Amino acid sequence: MNIIGPDALVFGVDDIAACTEYLTEFGLKPIDVTDKGGFFEALDGTGVEIRHRDDPSLPTPLPTPTMLRQQVYGVQSTEDLDAIETELSKDRRVTRLADGSLETTDVFDFALKFQVTKRRELVMEAEKINAPGAPAGRAPNELGIYPGMPALPRTLSHTVLFVPDQQKGAEWYVERLGFVITDILVPAGPFLRPKANDDHHTLFFIQTPEYMKGIEHLAFHMGGPTELMVAGSRLARKGFQSFWGPGRHKFGSNWFWYFNSPLGTHFEYDADMDKHDDSWVARQAPMSPQGTQMFLFEWRKRWSPGPGPEGITEGEDTPE
Ligand SMILES: [Fe+2]
Repeated sequence: MNIIGPDALVFGVDDIAACTEYLTEFGLKPIDVTDKGGFFEALDGTGVEIRHRDDPSLPTPLPTPTMLRQQVYGVQSTEDLDAIETELSKDRRVTRLADGSLETTDVFDFALKFQVTKRRELVMEAEKINAPGAPAGRAPNELGIYPGMPALPRTLSHTVLFVPDQQKGAEWYVERLGFVITDILVPAGPFLRPKANDDHHTLFFIQTPEYMKGIEHLAFHMGGPTELMVAGSRLARKGFQSFWGPGRHKFGSNWFWYFNSPLGTHFEYDADMDKHDDSWVARQAPMSPQGTQMFLFEWRKRWSPGPGPEGITEGEDTPE
């Protein structure tokens, strides 16, 4: 089963206008968005769909406060859809839609959809750096940072779910859908990647009581740590609340910066995640506030004498 990873996440929200503003400021592009919701895409066409929580087109909600209504996975081919249908039909209802995609539920009743991926191939440069001893990454006079520089989410990276039994979840995704465990935080749960994706993880579980079942955060890959810092600084300057970060995780090595959102979950910018193949041996480490990150900064508004509140000139990228 060549599952690539999340193509889209679908939410049933309370405030379409607030979510539209948030997702746009986060850096996603609105596609056919109206006052009834719509799709917000990253540069490769992956993204987030919002509808009002009472919209009848949405899958059935979980009996918890989460606003997540469906996870849409992209696969490589129609043969992969056939394989998934054959496997999951053994013990659950799998619905084949007119476009060939599949709808079903996982072991925790999270609504899932599988489709031939709609992501577009990205051809972009990674962030470039200069380092003594190595050939220059940037040409003479090519700047590493400048006001207004592009810093947009490139692709939907991963989803983190609160689940009531992380071991049961790991077994289901490994045995039924061919996911691979890359690392485990004890007792929270495993990092998982699907077979057709070499990222350290596209899915992570955190064990919680049943009544908390839902999505804890979702993440988008950026082009590097500078893009992550620029995008996060822009969001923070606009008044959106930083939740955790910026920093760099130990497992996955990815830079991170999490923000609160009106979608009832945290949104993460991430960058420079590790890649793995099947020779990788999963590590285990205890989950702790300090243990999950190599380092952590705390963003705060810069104070200096000058114009604007607390020295911030709103709407400008001012090198810190
Ligand atoms: Fe994350």
